[in-house]
Amino acid sequence: MASSLSLSVSVILLLCFAGAVSGQRLSPTFYSRSCPTALAIIKAAVTAAVAQEPRMGASLLRLHFHDCFVQGCNASVLLNDTATFTGEQGAGPNIGSIRGFDVVDSIKSQLEAACRQTVSCADILAVAARDSVVALGGPSWRVLLGRRDSTTASMALANSDLPAPSLDVVSLTAAFAAKRLSRTDMVALSGAHTFGQAQCQNFRDRLYNETNINSAFATALKANCPQPTGSGDGNLAPLDTTTPTAFDNAYYRNLLTQRGLLHSDQVLFSGGVTDGLVRAYASTPSRFSTDFAAAMVKMGNISPLTGTQGQIRLTCSKVN
Ligand code: HEM
Repeated sequence: MASSLSLSVSVILLLCFAGAVSGQRLSPTFYSRSCPTALAIIKAAVTAAVAQEPRMGASLLRLHFHDCFVQGCNASVLLNDTATFTGEQGAGPNIGSIRGFDVVDSIKSQLEAACRQTVSCADILAVAARDSVVALGGPSWRVLLGRRDSTTASMALANSDLPAPSLDVVSLTAAFAAKRLSRTDMVALSGAHTFGQAQCQNFRDRLYNETNINSAFATALKANCPQPTGSGDGNLAPLDTTTPTAFDNAYYRNLLTQRGLLHSDQVLFSGGVTDGLVRAYASTPSRFSTDFAAAMVKMGNISPLTGTQGQIRLTCSKVN
């Protein structure tokens, strides 16, 4: 009896030790003592940036997504190219497209002034994503904190792991499953396309070659997205024509009437397994809000560096 008790105590101790070595869990109160003003600084900066340009909220949310899907949420997306690695900013899904770096840099310098080398760039992205959604009318959630920053980045992984707008439901589901996100998470997170903009080169094929598109919607978009490929590639259109700068469920209502902008948007409502969820989010905004917030927390948990792994960068665009 005594020996089986001491055996189970040692097993518990061993498990605790293994947990400590493999890294710590993220916590919403991670900076409560080390940098109590951190969350307020980020919120104020994001609110001001979004007030100046509403699209910035969309751009900041997307930066967090593009960070998390490539080697985990470790701010690798923010690193400029160096002599030892080619970073992620030149990868296909990012080049000429991701934005928001100036806002992140400005937040980082304010945080460095308040609490030197304490708040990671990866956590700035996670909090800025939440504050962006809130600033434009969307749901809030408690952001888990304690991520650390990578010392490397990978253009190859950005090209392979970020989903392309040409994908169908099976491939989209697989891209999210590779990050341990479910099909429900995928459909809910796609609701991020309720704001922000896309370039003509990413939806031209849909306008000219697809049939599950509202004809008036296609005609209006064609005016600013001509054929052939090469002309007007960078011309922008809102991802959600109904409420372009509000974070709401209009994205899903648009899908019901074939007004999804990207191929990867409309495939979520095209007679397949995700139709039911799209209908549910279109008719019940609270269900979308709840699922979106839960999926954001899950996405923010993708392979974080914790404890003594990685570093706290002094400048988000380069390794210390
Ligand atoms: C489901 C797979 C996804 C695909 C294929 C996809 C693809 C794209 C594409 C092609 C653009 C337009 C880029 C451009 O033309 O410059 C875009 C924009 C955007 N994406 Fe996604 N995306 C996906 C999921 C997500 C997720 C999970 C989020 C965030 C949670 C997100 C947030 C955004 C936002 C906010 C924009 C607008 C950014 C801006 O205006 O600066 N996307 N996405």
